[in-house]
Amino acid sequence: MKQKINIFPAPFEMAEALALELISRINDAGKKGRALNIALSGGNTPGLLYSVLANHFSTAADWRFAHLFWGDERCVPPGHADSNYGAVQKALLSKIDIPALNIHRIIGERDPDEEAVRYSGEIRKYTLQKNNFPVLDIVLLGLGEDGHTASIFQGNTSSFRSDNICEVAVHPVTGQKRITLTGKVINNAIDVIFLVTGKNKAGVAGSIINKGKNAGKYPASFVTAHDGNLSWYLDREAGCLIRD
Ligand code: 6PG
Repeated sequence: MKQKINIFPAPFEMAEALALELISRINDAGKKGRALNIALSGGNTPGLLYSVLANHFSTAADWRFAHLFWGDERCVPPGHADSNYGAVQKALLSKIDIPALNIHRIIGERDPDEEAVRYSGEIRKYTLQKNNFPVLDIVLLGLGEDGHTASIFQGNTSSFRSDNICEVAVHPVTGQKRITLTGKVINNAIDVIFLVTGKNKAGVAGSIINKGKNAGKYPASFVTAHDGNLSWYLDREAGCLIRD
């Protein structure tokens, strides 16, 4: 695993830099005649990335060469305020020219156990395999204050270690059911990219990146990208405790 830490003055600069990186990767894939398989993150942080892509770079990428998946989804319909797909649809998908067949949402309104199986099959269908697991080109991840990532929460690390592609998880506070990629798929990706902003994430991000003594309690610390690349995109507030 190669790890790269990128700290930016503010969230916009972070989002802009990552947007340009994604655009470059999508267009490079297109020149080679293939599409990039990208798993998008849920939560609020990546919202700025999606808006920057839509409002500043909507035509910069040839979206025919991007297949969009989700790293996790709340088990709600797309119109629900909690829907990760719904958030991306509003911020980005409604503003770019991307083929409908390139959008692979987790169908949150379906039975979670059945959808976890279905979605696993959809991922397999569009990806190459390595170590008998799908290889996504890029997995974008957020970081919870409690160190969760995707929908892999403390006390639920069986989802991380599962031999399945997707698992049904339960949010420890709200009890909301989620569908999440498992750790074996996340760590099988070519590039895993964390997006983290805000002072409230400084402690957990610092602990994980500095490999602090408490890092092991955070599920996000299990993300290593194996023989891929692990990148952190942080703003100055979130990155203020990272030691050089
Ligand atoms: C989700 C995300 C989750 C999120 C973190 C950080 O569906 O909520 O996958 O892992 O990335 O909770 O969320 P914020 O970006 O809102 O702080």
